[in-house]
Amino acid sequence: MSVFYHEKSQTFHLTNGRISYLMKVLPNGTLGQLYFGRAIRDRENFDHLLEFASRPMSSCVFEGNPCFSLEHCRQEYPSHGSTDFRRPAVELRQPNGSRITSFVYHSHTVAPGKPALKGLPATYCEQDSEAETLTIRLRDELLNVSVYLNYTLFASHPALARSARIVNEGGLELHLTHAMSLSLDLPDMEYELLHFSGAWGRERYLKVRKLEQGVQSVESLRGHSSHNHNPFVMLRRPGTDEDQGEVLGFSLVYSGNFLAQAEVDTWDTTRITLGINPFGFDWKLEPGQGFQTPEAVAVYSHQGMGAMSRTFHTLYRSRLARGEWRDRPRPILINNWEATYFNFDEDKLVSIAQAAKRDGVELFVLDDGWFGARRSDRAGLGDWIANPELLPQGIPGLAERIEALGMRFGLWFEPEMVNRDSDLYRAHPDWLLQTPGRTPSHGRNQFVLDFSRPEVVDRVHAMMADILSGAKVSYVKWDMNRSITEAYSAALPPDRQGEVFHRYILGVYDLYERLTSAFPHVLFESCASGGGRFDPGMLYYAPQAWTSDDSDAAERLKIQYGTSFCYPVVSMGAHVSAVPNHQVNRATPLSTRANVAYFGTFGYELDLNRLTSEEREQVRAQIAFMKEHRDVIQFGDFYRLLSPFQGNYTAWMAVSPDRRTALVGWYKTLNEVNGPFRRLRLRGLDPALCYTVDGTSAHYGDELMEVGLVTTDSSAGECRDGQRPSRDFDSHIFVLKAD
Ligand code: DGJ
Repeated sequence: MSVFYHEKSQTFHLTNGRISYLMKVLPNGTLGQLYFGRAIRDRENFDHLLEFASRPMSSCVFEGNPCFSLEHCRQEYPSHGSTDFRRPAVELRQPNGSRITSFVYHSHTVAPGKPALKGLPATYCEQDSEAETLTIRLRDELLNVSVYLNYTLFASHPALARSARIVNEGGLELHLTHAMSLSLDLPDMEYELLHFSGAWGRERYLKVRKLEQGVQSVESLRGHSSHNHNPFVMLRRPGTDEDQGEVLGFSLVYSGNFLAQAEVDTWDTTRITLGINPFGFDWKLEPGQGFQTPEAVAVYSHQGMGAMSRTFHTLYRSRLARGEWRDRPRPILINNWEATYFNFDEDKLVSIAQAAKRDGVELFVLDDGWFGARRSDRAGLGDWIANPELLPQGIPGLAERIEALGMRFGLWFEPEMVNRDSDLYRAHPDWLLQTPGRTPSHGRNQFVLDFSRPEVVDRVHAMMADILSGAKVSYVKWDMNRSITEAYSAALPPDRQGEVFHRYILGVYDLYERLTSAFPHVLFESCASGGGRFDPGMLYYAPQAWTSDDSDAAERLKIQYGTSFCYPVVSMGAHVSAVPNHQVNRATPLSTRANVAYFGTFGYELDLNRLTSEEREQVRAQIAFMKEHRDVIQFGDFYRLLSPFQGNYTAWMAVSPDRRTALVGWYKTLNEVNGPFRRLRLRGLDPALCYTVDGTSAHYGDELMEVGLVTTDSSAGECRDGQRPSRDFDSHIFVLKAD
């Protein structure tokens, strides 16, 4: 792995043998972009990749030279308004009203390892040998402002992490209105743009559009990364699929308002920008102050989207997620939300836990409703003190009863919110985010606490720390059930109101950091009305997230499939729930509900006491199955095989690192009649190993990958003797083992 700098040609070449990233200082000192893709050999100069032409109507930098216009240069961290007319990476409003800047190369450093980003989530190294970081300093001499561009190249991943720090080294009071984490100019537009969009209950559906001239983007202005769009986009060459072809993945390690944008100019070059959404963003940068952007991670693959996803999975699983739970198989849990909603008392909870314990569940999670006056969603949020009518011995008493059963105990919080009917609100009505003179909007009868204020974060921290230190709590589910409106902080002056959204997220990160470091044994799961904040920022603090409030097995196929493009299986909360399903009123077989939930952090969200004894038998078998295989599922290599966005069948598989064990999840939506014989071509196996499938037939890896695994069921023709009739929402997990 190396960062080469060729002084004579002022060219940077970052390469780890898998990818190359090339930059060069342009004739006016601006940092130019030459190449990002598969590794190429190094050479002293790549100047031939800089092409200049005299184009009519161009605005040019040097008088007398009609050929040099930034409009026609690919750049690394562009500004708008001199000779580039595309969307910028950085913009500063100056006291004289100007927004023009000119950042030129000043100097650079290369260091082993990767420095942390203060107060922000980011990928990291455990050894300095794992990565190298290049920091390039750009300067605007007139304003006396530096931009430090950080590029970390990982030794064993085709991945590059980028961020920027903008420092006001002069005496002017400046306002930062654009501070993107990544800007990358690519030489052509022959790509499809893939993104993950949806809404509550149908998060991260895969969307594909052709890149066209003009601006295309996805974004959030909701204060959280959102159910609607995810801070992750891909550019793939036409014809690229799961196994072959070029694809670039861009992921933002951030949980607030973001923008992921592709701008294609009319010369067909593509500019990708990723970072904090500039809409409404306005950060006052006083003399001496700096602003650190969140981190963006770019991954390149020439082996299709599957390889790109596996790079993100490994990197995020092992060098973004942290803590004691990072590398541990996750406990099988039972959560009482869909079993009881707000209708429970201590004995009811214990009876749910007892049944679960009998079947092998390891962790009982008490969801919403245990605190303050919370008997519905109209009251109690903000008062993190157990309700003695429901829990006479408080959280310590309930936790002890659960622990006495031989299970761990977990607890739900929604730290960022308050109901008006709460002691916290009555004591601090001014702690809401709200605009002076206007009624604040509510969501689910709740209001957003001003987490940009340290005293608010401190107060919530004190209440939570009290609960966590006073009882045996092994798991925390951190919920967030509404988008942010009227984002105005009473504690900030008028010229800092454009900072509120970002300061809010910094407050959330601060609380997470304090709690996760003070309670290192606790497993944190993030949640935002299901998957409204499923992003890499959250994974840094909470190594798993509730993927969606939609727990229907058929719906979950799409949600988990879409989520898997960037996020590892071990990060996806997935539960078996009751039928008819509470979100879509659909009945799917118990086996299929489990077969889908296995590909995540498996658990149950129903009262097992209400199942028949046959169903309980099944549940016991499911739990035993997951215990046996969760290592492979949660920490193996994940392959998508059939897409629920393309047809009636979905399939995916997990392969152990030694490739001796694989689990193939196969799912049908609607049953067929007189259907075709079906085969499923597997991936990731060792071609030379012989695998037994479900302990019966044996096949070599090459046959299973090239010819395929026979998945025909009784929907092809009539049921044979002893064959189970096929049905809607059928599924099967094939277990492959090599001797
Ligand atoms: C939304 C979450 O996604 C659910 O799982 C549950 O915790 C409810 N909130 C509780 O209010």
